[in-house]
Amino acid sequence: MNEIQPYTSKNMSFKRFRPLRKDAQTRDLLVEVQLSPEDFILPYFVVEGKGIRNEIGSLKDVYHLSVDSILKEIEEPIKLGINKFLLFGVVEDFRKDETGSFSTSPENPVNKAIQEIKKVYPAITIITDVCLCAYTSHGHCGVLVGEQVENDKTLPILAEMALSNAKAGANIIAPSAMMDGQVWAIRQLLDKNGFTGVKILSYSAKYSSGLYGPFRGAANSKPAFGDRKTYQMDYRVASQAIEEMEADLDEGADYLMVKPAHTYLDIISKAHTKYPEVTLAAYHVSGEYMMLKSAALAGIVEEKHAVLEVFTAIRRAGANWIISYYAPFVAKLLKS
Ligand code: PBG
Ligand code: ZN
Repeated sequence: MNEIQPYTSKNMSFKRFRPLRKDAQTRDLLVEVQLSPEDFILPYFVVEGKGIRNEIGSLKDVYHLSVDSILKEIEEPIKLGINKFLLFGVVEDFRKDETGSFSTSPENPVNKAIQEIKKVYPAITIITDVCLCAYTSHGHCGVLVGEQVENDKTLPILAEMALSNAKAGANIIAPSAMMDGQVWAIRQLLDKNGFTGVKILSYSAKYSSGLYGPFRGAANSKPAFGDRKTYQMDYRVASQAIEEMEADLDEGADYLMVKPAHTYLDIISKAHTKYPEVTLAAYHVSGEYMMLKSAALAGIVEEKHAVLEVFTAIRRAGANWIISYYAPFVAKLLKS
């Protein structure tokens, strides 16, 4: 008789994991999260003028680019497989006023850049950051009454800005002012003008962060007084991130965002668990970028290794898209 032995799951007193890690081939078989260039969105800072490509003092390896320079600059990332770009306008002080009116002009650098990029690369996804802080004389993200940012007075201007971007050819509008109802205001005006196919990527959970400093240098968008705590989220609160997302989806947002990213993996994870079917973006912000960059330059971390690890963690937490100044660096690494 062939007697069947009672099944015992383990012959040893402990489980052996190290065989799973014994060589590169074995480790590769277990990979669950793999970065790809299409996960990334590359931000560009667009300025007026011609032939401008100036490194930004506060953001190492990132440039102020005039429209003609963007057309040259964008070639390499596209070759590397990056297919989504986020445009920020940077304008001189004489363009700024109390209501940020230049933000809605077809003549502003972002709207010009969209048109030129689309002529050459019609299949590339262009996303615009819709906020007033780079266009207002006071540097706040909305219209002021006294020293207060007035939510409902800001909404029509944000919507007009979004419409001007859509007219120029933008594919996705990314409102970042953190005004209540901004997604709804934008969706309404876009639809009314026939831009039903233009999508909205909402900066839903955008925290009032100490990590935006290098960006504000780059965008010349530092508030002249006070801070952004009356509109951006308080980082001592997590649950409200989901409430903000719920409201944005209800107002018509197509995609959601958490910002910052590296320091907000818990929020990314919560958002992904709550809305697994919604495309989620995470913004690896300027301060997070410069922390890594400076550590790498100081020889504290090995840049390639650390960068891949950080972005894998952001994807692993649940982000589908990562907005990052490191996008070309990562795409190059993935190619080699
Ligand atoms: C505009 C905006 C900011 C960032 C993206 N959109 C700055 C801010 O809120 O002050 C920050 C991006 C970064 O730090 O890389 N509101
Ligand atoms: Zn702003």
